Amino acid sequence: MTKRKGIILAGGSGTRLWPITMGVSKQLLPLYDKPMIYYPLSVLMLGGIREIAIITTPEDQTQFQRLMGDGSQWGLSFTWIVQPAPDGLAQAYLLARDFLNGAPSAMVLGDNIFFGHGLPETLAAADAQPMGGTVFGYRVADPERYGVVDFAPDGTVRSIQEKPEKPPSNYAVTGLYYLDGRAPDLAETVRPSARGELEIVDLLEKYRSEGSLRVERMGRGYAWLDTGTHGSLLDAGNFVRTLTDRQGLQVGSPDEIAWRSGFITREALLKRADTFRKNDYGRYLLGIASE
Ligand code: DAU
Repeated sequence: MTKRKGIILAGGSGTRLWPITMGVSKQLLPLYDKPMIYYPLSVLMLGGIREIAIITTPEDQTQFQRLMGDGSQWGLSFTWIVQPAPDGLAQAYLLARDFLNGAPSAMVLGDNIFFGHGLPETLAAADAQPMGGTVFGYRVADPERYGVVDFAPDGTVRSIQEKPEKPPSNYAVTGLYYLDGRAPDLAETVRPSARGELEIVDLLEKYRSEGSLRVERMGRGYAWLDTGTHGSLLDAGNFVRTLTDRQGLQVGSPDEIAWRSGFITREALLKRADTFRKNDYGRYLLGIASE
């Protein structure tokens, strides 16, 4: 099987967080001690994915590149792709067609934060399915703000509805999509919705209607955090701070994951630690290098 490739979708206009995001991309905002995009990047890395396309707006691309470079510091390879306008999540598969070159993919939205024991195992199980698609359902109190799963009484998926006024369940579809190598071809057949976007739910419906869409429930032991409003952004940052301070362990550090996953050598980790030698992050990396 061709190795699964990753996509981080980090475009969009971020209007819900204006005026903050008028001058900077939402996915570059701090979540406590790290830029937001580090967290979804960490998820792909925990899934063992090393070839990653990062999709940004034309204006923001250079800032992301300044932050993240070519990925080699983490033993990764980045391909930079521009989305000229926020025409919908499913468009990512059209933009990434050449990059994917027929490979299955894991796409994560650049503003989605996941935390939980057993995440690597959950991702490995999704990765082990070469055909069809896997999405992750997570119970939320306010499903009407998300894509929502409609389960039939026997547990099969009847539909996935985008921001329904009357949610058929409390299960939101998180912004992490494991799709097979046909995703760009199937995205090609998605027509723009009433709001003019190529909707991810319409692409997922292609899989569901042929019986190849799996919805894995992420249990209550996971945190799937929202960053869609000023309050939830602050809450997510406080969540990361609480865990980091309590455990003395980093949440969502690509440097640590690269090291523990064997993507980089000790020398490479020490070089990164030296970059940050004046702060706690550098001291942390130095510490794990000598464990
Ligand atoms: O977070 C999970 C939810 O993400 C899912 O439950 C929904 O089904 C899915 O549609 C999406 O809903 P959002 O309301 O969060 O979508 P939004 O338009 O805010 O876009 C999500 C992220 O993707 C955001 O960081 C901006 C980025 N984006 C969005 C669009 C439409 C792009 O990079 N390009 C785009 O064209």
